[in-house]
Amino acid sequence: MERIVTDETLDGLAEDDPAAMRSRRDLQRIHRVMGTRSILVKALRGLSASRPQGVPLRVLELGAGDGSLMLGVAQALKGEWPAVELTLLDRQRLVTRETLARYASLGWVARSEVVDVFDWAASPSTAANGLLQPGKSGHCDVIVTNLFLHHFEGPALAQLLAAIASRTGRFFACEPHRARLALAGSHLIGAIGANAVTREDAVLSVRAGFRDQEISTLWPPLEAGWTLQEYSAGLFSHCFRAEKNETFKGKGTKQ
Ligand SMILES: C[S@@+](CC[C@H](N)C(=O)[O-])C[C@H]1O[C@@H](n2cnc3c(N)ncnc32)[C@H](O)[C@@H]1O
Repeated sequence: MERIVTDETLDGLAEDDPAAMRSRRDLQRIHRVMGTRSILVKALRGLSASRPQGVPLRVLELGAGDGSLMLGVAQALKGEWPAVELTLLDRQRLVTRETLARYASLGWVARSEVVDVFDWAASPSTAANGLLQPGKSGHCDVIVTNLFLHHFEGPALAQLLAAIASRTGRFFACEPHRARLALAGSHLIGAIGANAVTREDAVLSVRAGFRDQEISTLWPPLEAGWTLQEYSAGLFSHCFRAEKNETFKGKGTKQ
């Protein structure tokens, strides 16, 4: 099945459009069906992000939507992970104060950043002294994406992956698996009460999804010292994980 990237209906709707609001609620149910939270929790547990005691772990989610998926992850990791500073980046303003307060109740300091990811990618990640800028969405310990990379065609995706590789030593993505079973599932999404926007976008997402080593192929080729893994997870997901080897981690990331 050839990869076809098409604009999704939800992306063209305003934040407060009732159909968009309903579709975002559908997305939460779709995540339950896809088992996204468990996939993420398992992957993030495996990313050996160690920080000196008392130094918060800086996590950035790109295309974070309303932040509810990561909130479920924060709940599952409660007591396991150190303090976390989380940035939820999306080009739409979707994260509510209530959601930020729920993160705070779990000990995570969450903030939302409303910006197009390509503006983020183009912004300088290094200071005048050549070192990566700490904090905000400059340098992060972990970058995560969910149902996000599939929005982009090869060249744009390669550009985005290069920006990610330059700003973190650990990256994890959970995307639609482009396969017959996932495509059949996407056609049946109406069975869980999804609206027309979600029904249409589910099919487009699978067609734009990934298989085999497609994301690894686009990872910056000149970057040494990375371990890449790409695999299918559950019935409908395709995951990509990149981790910079310890000996390379310090390079350029001193803060
Ligand atoms: C399918 S939703 C996934 C939301 C969330 N990650 C989840 O899994 O529930 C894709 C999100 O990507 C955001 N998005 C799409 N293109 C973007 C861009 N160029 N820059 C930043 N965010 C973008 C959309 O606004 C939307 O919230």
